[in-house]
Amino acid sequence: MYFIGIDLGTSAVKLLLMDQDGKIKKIASRDYPIIFPKLGWSEQNPEDWYVQTMDGLKELLSDIDKEQVAGIGFGGQMHGLVVLDQDDNVIRPTILWNDNRTAAETDYLNNEIGKDKLSEYTANIAFAGFTAPKLLWMRKNEPENFSRIAKIMLPKDYIAYKLTGVHCSDPSDASGTIFYDVKNKRWSKEMMEICGIREDQLPTVYESYEVVGNIKEDIAEELGLRKDVKVVAGAGDNAAAAVGTGTVGDGKCNVSLGTSGTIFISSKSFGVDKNNALDSFAHADGNYHLMGVVLSAASCNKWWMEDILKTTDFAGEQKNIKNLGKNHVYFLPYLMGERSPHNDPNARGTFIGMTMETTREDMTLAMMEGVAFAMRDSYEIAKSLGINIERTNMCGGGAKSPLWRKILANVLNLKVDILEVEEGPALGGAMLAAVGCGLYSSVEEIAQKVVKIKETVNPDPEIVELYNQRYEVFKKLYPSLKGFFKEMHID
Ligand code: XUL
Repeated sequence: MYFIGIDLGTSAVKLLLMDQDGKIKKIASRDYPIIFPKLGWSEQNPEDWYVQTMDGLKELLSDIDKEQVAGIGFGGQMHGLVVLDQDDNVIRPTILWNDNRTAAETDYLNNEIGKDKLSEYTANIAFAGFTAPKLLWMRKNEPENFSRIAKIMLPKDYIAYKLTGVHCSDPSDASGTIFYDVKNKRWSKEMMEICGIREDQLPTVYESYEVVGNIKEDIAEELGLRKDVKVVAGAGDNAAAAVGTGTVGDGKCNVSLGTSGTIFISSKSFGVDKNNALDSFAHADGNYHLMGVVLSAASCNKWWMEDILKTTDFAGEQKNIKNLGKNHVYFLPYLMGERSPHNDPNARGTFIGMTMETTREDMTLAMMEGVAFAMRDSYEIAKSLGINIERTNMCGGGAKSPLWRKILANVLNLKVDILEVEEGPALGGAMLAAVGCGLYSSVEEIAQKVVKIKETVNPDPEIVELYNQRYEVFKKLYPSLKGFFKEMHID
């Protein structure tokens, strides 16, 4: 039996075919553009996602026994606002998770409605990338579009809808809207009122591994699949990546270095930090998680290598870097503003501390360390809640770099487990489908069976100590520059 995982990412959709034992049989991917209509804005066209997903599925399914395909599951970029009219047509391009246009609406929610109330209603506060501020922005700036909204959903939910005809979502992705009551797993009446929406405009929430329906007949015909292929709700990409890396159950950690960087801690019980600096979201295994998000992670590397150094030889640039913990240059990775813990759309990327001796390698190392220090900001908050972990999994494009693995192991002082198969959200999506189809009794059971550690990067106490000292300096940089970032902000 085969299961398909669809990871609807920010730069591409990745599709994966997994057999019933968790072996990956095939992978395909298709790119689509991001539109930046203004500085700090980012949008995508849901139709591009769908066309590219179908095209990728055709490649994935060529030369395989299609009769064997039993289920489809998803991971998807979170927080994007997909709005459909009463005929289920897309009303406007989706405003993405890394779009920063909603500073005013985020301030309104956090300061006028108030963080205490938001936290009480949803377990979270507003961040510029979340869905609720986007809705408020649309209500104010595009009232005609807003009045036509019949359904609101998240990016991967649009693909589930196109494949099944069902308007659905799941708790992990619904959590990132902040009109979802995470603790009680239901849409928040108070938040719906604040955002000017009704429950009938929201999709039905299924657990990530629950079946929402079968694929539609025309889709089955177009793809050559059986009509009884089941589609499960899937999860936000971070929760799906956590499933794909076995970060399920209690007290497990996953660090993802994708376009964004996240530190994700799974928990069987619901919890919130006192400043809501970490996201407190539902998990795809039916439980909960805490998460810190660095908006630009592997994207800092891509920017630095491709746009500035004009090279695609990422490994070559890193191969002579050795002086971990001894770099005099610092980098703040806030190229798209910052989410956790600063919640500041005006924050910007910054190199600081260069001298006439500074080399290209020092700058590259600073960029990689800056992302790791920004992750540590979130990890420190988790530790202050009494969370005690010794090791983390790692996934995402950046996790392929042995240097970045080592930096993270030492900056976080955690053992970093490298997995035999590292396919994060797409694998997680396929695993959720296998649970939904009844092959496994729980997400924990399939994770135990499928996910295997290949090697572990251990922190080195000497380097850890050097990084502890450097982190003390790093953490003073943002507060010193905060006012300046605000002053230099241009609309
Ligand atoms: C998580 C977040 C990002 C996106 C990336 O809160 O905004 O990690 O999900 O796809």
